[in-house]
Amino acid sequence: MSRLNCIEEAYLLVHGDEIHDFGKSDSDTLARLRNENRGIQELDAKGGTLMPGWIDSHTHIVFAGSREKEFTDRIKGLSYEEIALRGGGILNSAERLRKASEPELLESAARRLKEVAMLGTVALEIKSGYGLSPESELKMLRVIKKLAESGPLAIRSTFLGAHAVPSEFKGNKKEYISVLIREVMPEIQKHGLAEFCDVFCEQNYFSADETKEILEAAKAHGMLPKVHAEQLSHSGGIKAGIMSGAVSVDHLEFANEEDIRMLADSETIPVVLPGAQFFLGLKNPPVRKMIEAGCAVALSSDYNPGSCPSGNMNQMVSLACIMYKMTPDEAIIAATTNSARAIGLSEKYGSICRGKKASFFITQAIPTYNFLPYAFGSNLIDTVVINGKSVSKNELYKF
Ligand code: NIG
Ligand code: FE
Repeated sequence: MSRLNCIEEAYLLVHGDEIHDFGKSDSDTLARLRNENRGIQELDAKGGTLMPGWIDSHTHIVFAGSREKEFTDRIKGLSYEEIALRGGGILNSAERLRKASEPELLESAARRLKEVAMLGTVALEIKSGYGLSPESELKMLRVIKKLAESGPLAIRSTFLGAHAVPSEFKGNKKEYISVLIREVMPEIQKHGLAEFCDVFCEQNYFSADETKEILEAAKAHGMLPKVHAEQLSHSGGIKAGIMSGAVSVDHLEFANEEDIRMLADSETIPVVLPGAQFFLGLKNPPVRKMIEAGCAVALSSDYNPGSCPSGNMNQMVSLACIMYKMTPDEAIIAATTNSARAIGLSEKYGSICRGKKASFFITQAIPTYNFLPYAFGSNLIDTVVINGKSVSKNELYKF
């Protein structure tokens, strides 16, 4: 993760939606390329830097309403857990999502998708988990599927029915889990609604044993496991995830030495979410230790109304450099190639390689790519190209 390859004065040749070639662009090479590719459209980067588009492997961008009331309650001293125990938090979002229609959810999620696309995100994962009933979870997953079919961003879908226990099952978590497994998972499999299944493994949410039970059932229904692990306390989510063969375990603020060893010996990708950690004022996950142990750490946004109302991956990269002491090289690799691994997209996304999707962005003229995380409040992206086509906000996701 420590070294990003960079070519100065480079060319990139796109054929269709794929990267066909790239290299150093001296005048002989340019003359040859122009001769071999007559009539091809040329884009001058004007001293800007071209980078593979961001891959956001962890988002909850389908939601209804916002939660700035909880934001101000936290400023006044309440914790995330205290707010949740009073019926705020995930249950607050669930109440609003249940009332929202599919067109309303589509429209608001499309607005967020356009925003993150113009900030350089070219592929992302979206979770359900604000429905918390068979009808509303399936409604969310249908909205995610519709988004995936309606625009150029690559979208992977995750079933997160085990995000919280809904109020109608209060004190009866066993029954809720059984509803997820018996009623919802077969529908998901039948209609191809999710590639992954995630569980919020945490005190007052789902235990490590419940996490394993849900993930085993999910595998039997064709979904690959993921876990929200060790975010607010050490709850055993990393171990449960690794034992279930999870593709990724995410958050990790309370990961310990044993967890890091297990992660380094597994194929499971540790995903850190500095936006949520920053927004909730949690402690840092042990990122340097994970990198030193040999883990392929990934970086994502967690875009959601409760713990991270931002999907700006440029900001996540800056936060990772500033708070975790990741170098810009490490943070950029974490937010592209490693993040693509965390959602099974690394064959086609996450780096500039021949045969991968031509999904990248070009910055304004900047002195070096280190300037990108350094200028933490600026949007330096000038042009976004997805699948070989330059995109503009107004053309994306029109419903
Ligand atoms: O990833 N940790 C659990 N889920 C979300 C927060 C969801 C919410 O507060 O709405 C997260 O931080
Ligand atoms: Fe999350």
